[in-house]
Amino acid sequence: MTTLRYVEPLYRPPSEARSLILQVTNGCSWNRCTFCEMYTEPQKKFRPTPQQDIERDLARVAASGMPVRRIFLADGDAMTLSFRRLRLIMESIKQHLPGVQRVSSYCLPRNIRKKSVDELAELRALGLTLYYVGCESGDDPVLERVGKGETFDSSLAALRKIKAAGARSSVMILNGLGGKLFSEQHARNSALLMNAAQPEYLSTLVVSFPLGTERYQAGFNGEFEPLEQPELFREMRWLLEDLELDNTIFRSDHASNYLVLKGILGKDKQNLLATVQAAIEQPESARLRPEWQRGL
Ligand SMILES: C[S@@+](CC[C@H](N)C(=O)[O-])C[C@H]1O[C@@H](n2cnc3c(N)ncnc32)[C@H](O)[C@@H]1O
Ligand code: SF4
Repeated sequence: MTTLRYVEPLYRPPSEARSLILQVTNGCSWNRCTFCEMYTEPQKKFRPTPQQDIERDLARVAASGMPVRRIFLADGDAMTLSFRRLRLIMESIKQHLPGVQRVSSYCLPRNIRKKSVDELAELRALGLTLYYVGCESGDDPVLERVGKGETFDSSLAALRKIKAAGARSSVMILNGLGGKLFSEQHARNSALLMNAAQPEYLSTLVVSFPLGTERYQAGFNGEFEPLEQPELFREMRWLLEDLELDNTIFRSDHASNYLVLKGILGKDKQNLLATVQAAIEQPESARLRPEWQRGL
């Protein structure tokens, strides 16, 4: 099997575990979200990968004969590249690996602000059909405190543009992001954002601080109080209660979650709510992920 040269660490969504990871950029061009330490090491300073290096990687994979059906464009916000660069990359993929059926990428709302629906549709026609959008919250005060640089409106505009271009969105919302003070408004406004956007996929992760909360606390004037396990479940109940989704695949099964939830919303809403309620009332009987198995 061909191994490509990566600048590590490398992150990808759990659902891209079997995809070829093509590092078309290194790091994240924003890198200011106070909860995210993923691209903070010196070697992860943001840099687009030169087109000739991408071509060389694709040619190498093609020559190996390895069957590739899916490609994930790394790192944190490959969609920051211009439409022109992205089109070149998609054309190279088509040329070298014609069997590829789906290309996906992380995408900040601001990454597509300057791209038109027609441009996104052109990229979709070339195979770029799925965007993982880290909305994290639909609550503006929380988004401001965590340095996301986005709002309810900017997130919604991006999700609508993706849909208008015929592509799909997979949204991430972070359980516990606002701490105790903002828990309810974070949950309820995140539900409102999802109801307005109707993404094809929605997943929730529990916010974690492997390197400590110092950077995070600064945005909250030192008043951030992390949620205890029952409070995380209560927040999840508020979110689920308010979600009015027509046909969204919902997953709360990332390794950061204590309670694994999976279903299709709205169809499974009552079942999911019952599971959360049971975990609140009888945590000892719920099948919770032990602390040692949790991670990012
Ligand atoms: C590698 S990041 C890339 C996301 C992309 N840059 C964006 O903002 O849309 C993927 C996701 O990991 C999650 N994440 C990052 N730091 C986290 C943390 N400390 N705890 C839990 N989830 C985290 C966030 O939901 C984030 O959107
Ligand atoms: S969450 Fe996304 S935008 Fe924010 S710093 Fe991490 S990778 Fe960058």
